[in-house]
Amino acid sequence: MSGKVNKAMTLKRFVHNATAAAAAAMNRPRPTCKPSTLNSFWGKVTLAPRDPIISINQLYKQDPNPKKINFSIGTYRTEENESFIFSSVQKAEEKVFSETRILEKEYSPMEGFHPFNKLAYELLFGNDHYEQSNITVQTLAGTGALDLGATFLGKFYLGRKEAFISQPSWINHYLIFTNYGFNTKAFRYYDNKRKQFDTNGFFEDIEKLPDHSVVLFQPCGHNPASVQPTPSQWDMISRIIREKNILPFFDIAYHGLCSGQIESDVYAIRKFAQDGHHMLVSQSFSKNMSLYGDRVGSLTIMCESEDEAYRVRSQLKNLIISKYICPPFQTGRVVATVLEDQFLRHEWIEQLGGITERLQRTRWQLRRKLESVCPEHQWKHITEQCGIFWYSGLTSSQVETLINEYSIYLCEDGRVNIAGINPNNIDLFGDVIRDVINR
Ligand SMILES: Cc1ncc(COP(=O)(O)O)c(C=O)c1O
Repeated sequence: MSGKVNKAMTLKRFVHNATAAAAAAMNRPRPTCKPSTLNSFWGKVTLAPRDPIISINQLYKQDPNPKKINFSIGTYRTEENESFIFSSVQKAEEKVFSETRILEKEYSPMEGFHPFNKLAYELLFGNDHYEQSNITVQTLAGTGALDLGATFLGKFYLGRKEAFISQPSWINHYLIFTNYGFNTKAFRYYDNKRKQFDTNGFFEDIEKLPDHSVVLFQPCGHNPASVQPTPSQWDMISRIIREKNILPFFDIAYHGLCSGQIESDVYAIRKFAQDGHHMLVSQSFSKNMSLYGDRVGSLTIMCESEDEAYRVRSQLKNLIISKYICPPFQTGRVVATVLEDQFLRHEWIEQLGGITERLQRTRWQLRRKLESVCPEHQWKHITEQCGIFWYSGLTSSQVETLINEYSIYLCEDGRVNIAGINPNNIDLFGDVIRDVINR
């Protein structure tokens, strides 16, 4: 028996072979739909497709293997595999909640907590860029901002109802725009072969976008590809988009978690603003403040004039009132407190820096591990990518093997949460990858 097979067998024994249950779960059909009776109002409802990330997470939960590992979910974990709490956010919460009086349980304004809106806007555009023709409203996190923005566009946008989205992208981008009557189409973004930003494919496709359409960009920490254009490429993109009068919609969900620097991560947004685009920006504080369940974010719409902004704001408020009346006031106050208090803000930015440093360190450890166990393959893309994901290039059948045979859960498209990798599992993970790619 060769050393290679021997090692693989030890490895399999080590990772426990209780994964049959997980395999069964993976292949388990969903409850079959019995046809509805003639009286049913819901007779024509077909089964919705599963959310790929949530379903992998459910499989993980059902897996009885005590050594199971979850790299599929997109939240930051500590080296001890625990959720992370920003001390700055915790202090802000204590301050806000100790000051909360009954009066503040009343409905908040539809557009949310005003100081939050200003501070959230300044975090994106800088302190000196405020203009009366820009509107920022507090939203139900990044998804709420995308949804509100797409609702607004679905109702009022005078351009083409075509939204161009990178291939690959976060699946919700497609779902949200489709919900509001947009035709969604893809532009090339990632070169699977070279494992890098697909510069040629991207620019070829961007040059061909129809005038007056909508294009969605992630300015940093792209989910899932983890690569992005350079600043000079963003400059070119801004020019092309402006010439074609295309509406850019930026979705920033990982601000500060890519470079660790507030300014670098928003380069594209500030450049586009400087170039005078009338654009939309959805902003999330779920990841960079660990406020996932609190649902806090913002939507900014840049208009041509103060008068136009006045009208746009009134319609946005109408949409908000019909969707949920107002966003949660306290979470807006918590974020505003972190951003406004110089000490808390400094502490927050330092912690963001610590997180990105750890992610980068983990990338290097994984790269070295794979270079030593799989020297016949290239691994430099691991450290070239940035943000909380590693877009591994593992195929869906390799992912299935990882799940079924090793209880290691990642997204079907090969996306790995880098934060889930720690000193306890990195060697095992590297050995398992070697095993599956050498089959
Ligand atoms: C690219 C992208 N945009 C937006 C979001 C929305 O995040 P949330 O609604 O939790 O703020 C996510 C979450 O995973 C994301 O990956």
